[in-house]
Amino acid sequence: MIELHTVSRVFATGDSPVQAINAVSLQINAGDGLVVRGPSGSGKSTLLHMLGLMLHPTGGVMEFDGQRPWSHTPAWRARVRRQRIGFVFQQGHLLPWLSLRDNVMLAGIDAAKAEVLLDRVGLHARSGHRPGQVSGGERQRAAVARALAGGSDVLLADEPTGTLDEANALAVLDLLEEARADGAAVVLATHGAADPGDKWATISLERGCIVNPLETHTAC
Ligand SMILES: Nc1ncnc2c1ncn2[C@@H]1O[C@H](COP(=O)(O)OP(=O)(O)OP(=O)(O)O)[C@@H](O)[C@H]1O
Ligand SMILES: [Mg+2]
Repeated sequence: MIELHTVSRVFATGDSPVQAINAVSLQINAGDGLVVRGPSGSGKSTLLHMLGLMLHPTGGVMEFDGQRPWSHTPAWRARVRRQRIGFVFQQGHLLPWLSLRDNVMLAGIDAAKAEVLLDRVGLHARSGHRPGQVSGGERQRAAVARALAGGSDVLLADEPTGTLDEANALAVLDLLEEARADGAAVVLATHGAADPGDKWATISLERGCIVNPLETHTAC
């Protein structure tokens, strides 16, 4: 589904460009589970934003279903993002003026389904509240519910459990595993202890490089 061939990303800021991702090659197929580990600043979010077609590589080749997204129009990428990709942002990114239920419904589902998803992340009683009226962890759980609601082929989760206690973190990991069982490719970035289990492959990033190359992933 998604292939990266020696993909790099340099941020040209000031006099010292930052090489956030350095020659990463990997393949992600339907039903795959991939954990991206690495310390703060190692390039996890940058990698996920590129996989989500939100940030273009500055080197290498990326393909989505055999197509090069960055040779297409912004409208093409927007359509693929909307129809195929779910993203849980590190910061949540809910719309502040909508209730949690309405935020989840933005993924194109009805209120009853939104309530079911919010219930599964422990937020049933808060579905009518706006993001500003709930805690940071509750916002994060609502963001996970919204990303799951779209039934995407690719689910990209950037630190979805970073602000959660153990029970809620486990609930979120269960939801990611279910999305995978439904056939989605799921990528989870974490610098913490989140561990979705041994059925997931793991890559570790250090300064933008994969340091534990697997069969389908090469080191830089
Ligand atoms: N827009 C940007 N402009 C300049 N540098 C950036 C930009 N975005 C990220 N970087 C740099 O790229 C590197 C990788 O950042 P990234 O956000 O991908 O790390 P991360 O692994 O997600 O870290 P964290 O665990 O703290 O979220 C860092 O050195 C960061 O400062
Ligand atoms: Mg990050």
